[in-house]
Amino acid sequence: MSVSVVTGASSGIGEATARCLAREPGAELVLVARREDRLAALADSLGVPATWIAVDLTEPDAPERVLAHVGEHHDRLDLLVNNAGAAWRGTFGEAGWENVRRTMELNFDAVVRLTEALLPILRASAPSAIVNVASTAGRVARAGSGAYSASKFALVGWSDALHLEEKANGVHVGLVLPGFIETEGFPATELKAKAATRWTVSTPDKAAEAIFEAGPGGKAERYVPRPYALAAVTRILLPGLVRRVLSGGAASVMTTSNEADAAEIRRER
Ligand SMILES: NC(=O)c1ccc[n+]([C@@H]2O[C@H](COP(=O)([O-])OP(=O)(O)OC[C@H]3O[C@@H](n4cnc5c(N)ncnc54)[C@H](OP(=O)(O)O)[C@@H]3O)[C@@H](O)[C@H]2O)c1
Repeated sequence: MSVSVVTGASSGIGEATARCLAREPGAELVLVARREDRLAALADSLGVPATWIAVDLTEPDAPERVLAHVGEHHDRLDLLVNNAGAAWRGTFGEAGWENVRRTMELNFDAVVRLTEALLPILRASAPSAIVNVASTAGRVARAGSGAYSASKFALVGWSDALHLEEKANGVHVGLVLPGFIETEGFPATELKAKAATRWTVSTPDKAAEAIFEAGPGGKAERYVPRPYALAAVTRILLPGLVRRVLSGGAASVMTTSNEADAAEIRRER
């Protein structure tokens, strides 16, 4: 038996990850997000024992509620996938501290708080694993998504340290850094509309495979699609070149696509 908690399981990468994990023999799943109808429907369709907890992960009591749920329905925890997250686009001059605050609250603080609550049971179930879903934006920042990049840079740094710290306790910590993945929250409409940029957009199933590799597969770090690793390397080795590219025309497509779509969708929710 192998019990996994997947946050953000109601759509996109989290849903694909739940389906991917459910294909493993002996899998049991705990699905976490706010939209209960989606979680219930997914749990019913997986064909393995699956429970769900509908919770806003930014609420103060969310970590304790998830821990209590795991304790009530399962007696161990083998994998925690910290995937829930969102982007609200806006320059700092326009969107200010409030945009940074709400983005950090979900993409960083909520991840750290949930991990703190579940770490004792992960250690008790070792060998076990945590996968933190960051972003290529956690290595390369673009105009208009500073709040998002700040949250993902923070997640990357914290994950790297946690990886080293938890090795001795048998808890593997893997990091996944997606590029553009077409999902409900990040539709990548503009990138998909143009032949020149369509190739840059990948699928939730590919991201789920990367999460599997970084969790049960034992990989420390995985970009998805893999060539996005070049962007991170180039940012370190040739920072001037990256700044020039990101200040030029090519940048406007990249900066207005995913996060703009995401902001639009979130306004509607
Ligand atoms: N798609 C991309 O291009 C891309 C690129 C890089 C990184 N990522 C990262 O991948 C992760 C998944 O994103 P996605 O593309 O799959 O987007 P998505 O389809 O919008 O999924 C986001 C998930 O997070 C959940 N969520 C949002 N706010 C929440 C809250 N306050 N409490 C609990 N759950 C919450 C949503 O469920 P509810 O609305 O039901 O709560 C949903 O299940 C995110 O961390 C994102 O930053 C995505």
